[in-house]
Amino acid sequence: MTKKLFIKTWGCQMNVYDSARMADVLAPLGYQPVDEPDGADMVILNTCHIREKAAEKVFSELGRLRQLKDRKAEAEDGRMILAVAGCVAQAEGEEIVARAPFVDMVFGPQTYHTLPEMVAKASRAAGSVLNTDFPAESKFDFLPEEAASQGVSAFLAVQEGCDKFCTFCVVPYTRGAEFSRPADQILGEAKRLVAGGTREINLLGQNVNAWHGDGPDGSTWGLGRLIRELAEIDGLERIRYTTSHPRDMADDLIRAHAEVPQLMPYLHLPVQAGSDRILAAMNRKHTADDYRRLVDRLRTAKPDLAMSGDFIVGFPGESDADFAATLKLVTEIGYAQAYSFKYSPRPGTPASVDGAQVPEEVKESRLAALHQLLNAQQVAFNHSFVGRSVPVLFDRVGRRGGQLLGRSPWMQSVHAEANERLLGRIVEVRVDAALANSLAGTVVTGEYITASPFQPAVTLEASA
Ligand code: 5AD
Ligand code: SF4
Repeated sequence: MTKKLFIKTWGCQMNVYDSARMADVLAPLGYQPVDEPDGADMVILNTCHIREKAAEKVFSELGRLRQLKDRKAEAEDGRMILAVAGCVAQAEGEEIVARAPFVDMVFGPQTYHTLPEMVAKASRAAGSVLNTDFPAESKFDFLPEEAASQGVSAFLAVQEGCDKFCTFCVVPYTRGAEFSRPADQILGEAKRLVAGGTREINLLGQNVNAWHGDGPDGSTWGLGRLIRELAEIDGLERIRYTTSHPRDMADDLIRAHAEVPQLMPYLHLPVQAGSDRILAAMNRKHTADDYRRLVDRLRTAKPDLAMSGDFIVGFPGESDADFAATLKLVTEIGYAQAYSFKYSPRPGTPASVDGAQVPEEVKESRLAALHQLLNAQQVAFNHSFVGRSVPVLFDRVGRRGGQLLGRSPWMQSVHAEANERLLGRIVEVRVDAALANSLAGTVVTGEYITASPFQPAVTLEASA
């Protein structure tokens, strides 16, 4: 009998990936994904703990779900198994069990492969099953193979966890120590994805460029080597990776940007702040000049490399002069796209107990100033493409009929009128207009760069 599974996901790409894997683990038990929680047999909240109010959001969501669970029971429509997964479950599992005893399962990110056992236990017993272990075995060795087709653009987790211990960050506590999947596992999965129609793989990890694995030849590979091997897979047109730490940008990875055509010219390389004093307090273990030199080397290797990053404003002790150093660094580097956040004290992290917390209104005004600068850079970057032709990999059907959506090599979202035959192909698109977060374009007819995995190769007519 099929059962309805609803998963709500917060936070990063790793959580999106994990939610898909949980659905894969539960499929053999008869669970099929649905789009709303009402009437579902299982609801999983896959939570994020990186910034503020995470736990409160979970509790208020649980309040709503409790009503659906009760309604289902009253209607004698079976039982709704209610679960909290992800980083809030890992960090605050005991509190969830205590405050919301109607929750059936609370489990951390390293336990997803044990879901069938947890479901069996939760079905038998009253009370919550709590599992926030860091098991000795790797979940990657036990998760089932991915569902055959992940679409044109797919994520592939290669690394999880972090040993860096930036003083503001919960990731080392919620996701545990750095772990790299072995190269052959990754290459096997990549080949299966490509056979299922994937043309772009985004290698995923909390600290992805720290990836190191035993290669099939017995030597230890770094991410650069892994990317070179992935580039040998026939039909894999594009490779990306996210998210990186400046200290793990190895020479070979920088060279890969120059030498591997499939490696896209876009790099998310968070620096967080531009002041050396703040970088030291954050335990980033590099200076602003180290970062400038690194970006110079990357741009020497790949002159059209588009930079992306993350920034935190209002870290404890951040002065006006420190913040000015962040603005200066952003101005010098020039970002195609970036994320900026107000510092949020996270329980259990060293910076949260620093006495020099920055007042909320100062954080607000710094965030607004940084947003404005980053936004102006993004707009300028996108505008520089108007009138140019760019190769776009169409990966989705647009909401408006007759439109396809895809990405440029520089990660810009591009939409254009296009025949569905172009899904999964890289097509030349002339950019007509730059909008706030995307480019609008026209397919340059009669040309295409690659064959579609979903359609036999055909020469396009003007109807494209
Ligand atoms: N407060 C604000 N931003 C944070 N980030 C991580 N921890 C915090 C925090 N405590 C941001 C960093 C990181 C991104 C994923 O989230 O910029 O790179
Ligand atoms: Fe958090 Fe720093 Fe690790 Fe990134 S490198 S996950 S910010 S501790």
